[in-house]
Amino acid sequence: MKVSAIVAVDEHGAIGKDGQLMWHIPADMKRFKSVTMGHPIIMGRKTFESFPKGPLPGRLNIVLTRDDKYNVEGVEICHTVEEALSVAFDSGASECFVIGGEQVYKLMLDLVDTIYLTIVHASFPDADAFFPSIASLGWKVNVISREDFEADERNKYPYSFMVLDRI
Ligand SMILES: NC(=O)c1ccc[n+]([C@@H]2O[C@H](COP(=O)([O-])OP(=O)(O)OC[C@H]3O[C@@H](n4cnc5c(N)ncnc54)[C@H](OP(=O)(O)O)[C@@H]3O)[C@@H](O)[C@H]2O)c1
Repeated sequence: MKVSAIVAVDEHGAIGKDGQLMWHIPADMKRFKSVTMGHPIIMGRKTFESFPKGPLPGRLNIVLTRDDKYNVEGVEICHTVEEALSVAFDSGASECFVIGGEQVYKLMLDLVDTIYLTIVHASFPDADAFFPSIASLGWKVNVISREDFEADERNKYPYSFMVLDRI
């Protein structure tokens, strides 16, 4: 099973503040949905609790927590990375997605082969959650694709969609 990550960062690697995203870019939400649909998604408990309507439909939602009593309907609760990967694998998936947040990216990025990256071309200095710097991880990457978009009525910031493969 392939392990991929999907993340949206600002120009400085920021991904969130106060448990939420800092931007509203419908085009990115649409991309997230189309990339992850049908695949298991692995996330931290805090990211899961940021979803306004609970588990994301059409995907096996796997939530990592250290809390033995944590239980939510419609969600696979796991307490270790190994358990999360085993649940994803047992579902018969060919690819699963690490979807954040900061703690879980840090925990799992070593296992990831491909990153679906959105860069929001803006700066959010108040951010309190960040994606690990790919350079500091010592990764060498192939840029598989890159598409650049201007801001528009619905998407308030310019943004780029990239796919990066670890060499
Ligand atoms: N821009 C993006 O693409 C993107 C994507 C996702 C999230 N985000 C943002 O990222 C922020 C949340 O990130 P975060 O780092 O604070 O939280 P997080 O990674 O979503 O969740 C952290 C929680 O995961 C559990 N956890 C962490 N390490 C674990 C381990 N080794 N074993 C078992 N469970 C473990 C713990 O849950 P318990 O406390 O229950 O034990 C921990 O509190 C939010 O602002 C969110 O909006 C942004």
